[in-house]
Amino acid sequence: MSVSIKSKDDIDGMRKAGRLASEVLDHIAPFVKPGVTTGELDRICHDYMVNVQGTIPAPLNYCPPGYTPYPKSICTSVNHQVCHGVPGDKVLKSGDILNIDVTVIADGYHGDTSRMFLVGPPSVAAKRLCDVTHEAMWRGIEVVRPGATLGDIGHAIQHFVEAQGFSVVREFCGHGIGKVFHEEPQILHYGRPGHGMRLEPGMTFTIEPMINAGKPHIRELADGWTIVTKDHSLSAQWEHTVAVTDSGVEVLTLSEGSPDWNRNVGAR
Ligand code: MF3
Ligand code: CO
Ligand code: CO
Repeated sequence: MSVSIKSKDDIDGMRKAGRLASEVLDHIAPFVKPGVTTGELDRICHDYMVNVQGTIPAPLNYCPPGYTPYPKSICTSVNHQVCHGVPGDKVLKSGDILNIDVTVIADGYHGDTSRMFLVGPPSVAAKRLCDVTHEAMWRGIEVVRPGATLGDIGHAIQHFVEAQGFSVVREFCGHGIGKVFHEEPQILHYGRPGHGMRLEPGMTFTIEPMINAGKPHIRELADGWTIVTKDHSLSAQWEHTVAVTDSGVEVLTLSEGSPDWNRNVGAR
C-alpha cells in the first residue's frame, strides 16, 4: 500500500488540469436542455477538450482490469443511474437530473470533477437530493487537513447523508489521482472517525459521493459500465479533486463557472 506524495510542481500541474476539467463543465452547461442527447453532450465535450483545450479525455478507451474499454469521453448518469453512464441516444427531458463527469489529462496530470445538472424545473425531491449530495461532498472536503483520517472524511459524509434520509453507495469510492487516473488510496464515502490512513501534505485525491434517494444497493447494466440503483430510486453525485496542503485543503477543480468558485476553504 503506497500513496504518492506530490511535489510543488506536481500540485501546480494538478491545479491546471483540475481547472481545465472544471472548464469543460462550464462549457457544457448551456447545452444541457430538454431535447439534447447524452451522446451530443459527449461530442461537444470531446471536441472542446481535444480541439480547444488540447487536453486528453481520460475516460476514452479507459480499461481497468475486468472491464471493456470505455467507449466515450465523459460519463453522463441520468436519474436512477448512479455513475459511469455511457452517453448515447438518450434524449433529455424536462425534470431529468444528470451527473456529467469529466476527467482530462493535461501535461500528464489528471483533473477529475463532476456536477449535477437539472434539466428544466426539477421536482422538489430531485432538487433536494442534488443539494444534499453537494453539501455531503463539501462536508467531506472540509474535514481534509494533515492528521485527519480517511475515516473522518467518510464519517462526515455518511453522517450528514443518512440524517437526511438518503443512502451512501458503497461499491464505488473516491481515489488517489495524479499522473495516474485511479491510484491509492481509496476514499470511502462512509466510515468511522479516527479510522484509516492519516492524511499528509501532498496527497491528492477525489471526493465523489454517490447518494441514493432510496436504498444504497446498485447493479450494473449489460453495457458493462452503467451503474443504476437496484430499487430504481434517484441517485446524485458531485466530485472534486483536492490536495492536502500544509494547513488544510485546496480544491483543485475550480473554475469561474463552478458553483463552488467562491467557496473558500483554503483560507481556514
Ligand atoms: N471519472 C470517473 C471517476 O470519478 C471514472 C470514470 S471511468 C470511465 O473516477 F471509464 F467510466 F470513464
Ligand atoms: Co473520480
Ligand atoms: Co470523475
